[in-house]
Amino acid sequence: MSKKITRYAVVGAGGRVVNFIDPIVSRFSANNELVGMCDTNQGRLDWHNKRLVNELKYHAVPTYLAGDFDRMIKETKPDVVIVTTVDAYHHEYIIRAMKLGCDAITEKPMTIDDKKCRAIFDAIKATGRRLRVTFNYRWAPGTTLVKQLLVKGTIGEIVSADMEYMLNTSHGADYFRRWHREKEKSGGLMVHKSTHHFDLVNWWLDAVPQQVFGYGKLAFYGRENARKRGVKVKYDRYTGHDTKGDPFALKIDGSQGGYMLDLYHKTEKYDGYIRDRNVFGDNITAEDTMSVLVKYRTGVALTYSLNAFLPREGFHIAFNGTKGRLEYNEEHGSHVVEGKKASSPEGHELNWKSRCVVHPMFGKAYEVEIPKAEGGHGGSDPLLAEQIFSPRPPKEKWGRNAGQGQGAASILIGIAANKSFVTNKPVDIAKLCPQLGKAKKLSDLV
Ligand SMILES: NC(=O)c1ccc[n+]([C@@H]2O[C@H](COP(=O)([O-])OP(=O)(O)OC[C@H]3O[C@@H](n4cnc5c(N)ncnc54)[C@H](O)[C@@H]3O)[C@@H](O)[C@H]2O)c1
Repeated sequence: MSKKITRYAVVGAGGRVVNFIDPIVSRFSANNELVGMCDTNQGRLDWHNKRLVNELKYHAVPTYLAGDFDRMIKETKPDVVIVTTVDAYHHEYIIRAMKLGCDAITEKPMTIDDKKCRAIFDAIKATGRRLRVTFNYRWAPGTTLVKQLLVKGTIGEIVSADMEYMLNTSHGADYFRRWHREKEKSGGLMVHKSTHHFDLVNWWLDAVPQQVFGYGKLAFYGRENARKRGVKVKYDRYTGHDTKGDPFALKIDGSQGGYMLDLYHKTEKYDGYIRDRNVFGDNITAEDTMSVLVKYRTGVALTYSLNAFLPREGFHIAFNGTKGRLEYNEEHGSHVVEGKKASSPEGHELNWKSRCVVHPMFGKAYEVEIPKAEGGHGGSDPLLAEQIFSPRPPKEKWGRNAGQGQGAASILIGIAANKSFVTNKPVDIAKLCPQLGKAKKLSDLV
C-alpha cells in the first residue's frame, strides 16, 4: 500500500509561514509535501523559494500572485491550504480553498469581524470541509499545566478570573510599525493579539462567552499623543533617517541584522508594504490601551486588560475558585529590536520565566513546577506542528486542537469589545454569530 502524502499550499508568505513550511519540508517531509505558495508580493515568494533550496535543501515550488490563487489550487492540487496572510484576508482564502475542494488551516485570528466570521461558518456548512485554527499558545508547557490543574478541580469550581497582559516598547511597539496598526487589516490588538488570550481563557474555563463590555483608546502611540507629550515626529519611517536617540527606531536596511532586509525592505517595490513605520505616525486606528469585562454562559466573569507600551512584557492570570485561587505568571524577554532589552529593578535583563502558584482556601500556598520545553513560543510551536503534520500525532488529552467554533469564540470577544468601545454598551456574542449555537462549554464546539 502506498504511503499517504498530504499536499499543502500556503497563502501569505511573510514571517510566520516558516513555522508551517519548515515542518512540512523537513521534520515531517516523509508524509507531507509543499506544492505551492501564494502572496501579493513576488519578492517575498522568491525569498521563500531561495530559503527552501539553500537552507532547507528542498526544491523550489511554484509561486502564484494573489489573483492566481484559484489557478494555484487547480494546478497544484493541494489537500490543505494554510492561510498566513494579513488577518483581514484569512476568510477570503479559507472560503475559496473550501469551495475549491480543500480543507484549510488558518493562523489566528480566524478572521477580524463578525460578518467575515459568519461567512466562514456558511462556507463550512456548504462544503463540508474542515478548518483548523492554530492556537499555539495552548500548547506551551505552562498554559497546559494550568489547564491540567483546573480540570483536576484544584481550586474547586471557578467563579471568576482576572488577566492582565502587558506588551512592551519593543514587541508592543512593533504592532504600530506595520499593518497591525490599521484596524481594517487586523481588527486592532483586541482581535489580532487578544485572540490568543481570550482563547486561553475560554479553554481554561471550558466556557463560551456570552456578553462583553469594554473601553479602549490610543493613549501612547500615534502623532497626536506624541505631540501632546512634546515629542517631535521627524520621519514617517525609520530606515533611511538619522534616528539617533530614538528608542523606537527599527532599521530594516540590514544594519540591525536579521532577515528583515531581504524579506521586507528589498521587497517593498512590489507592493509598498512598509515594515518600519514610525509608531508616532498618522492613521493609526488600533488601540494601545484596552479594558474588557466578559460574562460567560457558565456564569463565570473575566476582567481583562491589554496595554501595549509598557516597560516590561508578560501576563498574570488569577482564577478564583470555591476551594482556592490559582495564579499563573509569565515574564517575557523583549524581542524585535535587539539590544533594547527590558531590565528588572535589580538591573539584570528580563528573560522568559513562568510561575504557577496554588493558594488552597485554608491551606498553605504551594508552587507547581512547570515542565521545560524547547522551541518557538515557549515550546508550543513544535508540539502543534506535530499534531498537524505527523501521520500519528500523540493522542491529545487536553482539547488543544481547535476548529471554527473555538476559533470564533475567541475572536468574537475582541470583535464585541471593539463594538462596545464605540457604542459604550454591552454586546451579546450570540447576536454577532448565531452559528455558535447554545453551547455553554467550549469543548462542545469544534
Ligand atoms: N500564532 C502566532 O504566534 C503568530 C505569530 C505571528 C503571526 N501570526 C499570524 O500569522 C499571520 C501572518 O503574520 P506575519 O507575521 O507573517 O505577517 P507578515 O506581514 O510578515 O506576512 C503577511 C503576508 O501576507 C501577505 N499578504 C497581504 N495581503 C495578502 C493578500 N490579499 N493575499 C495574499 N497574501 C497577502 C503579505 O504580502 C505578507 O507576505 C497573521 O495572521 C498573524 O496573525 C501568528
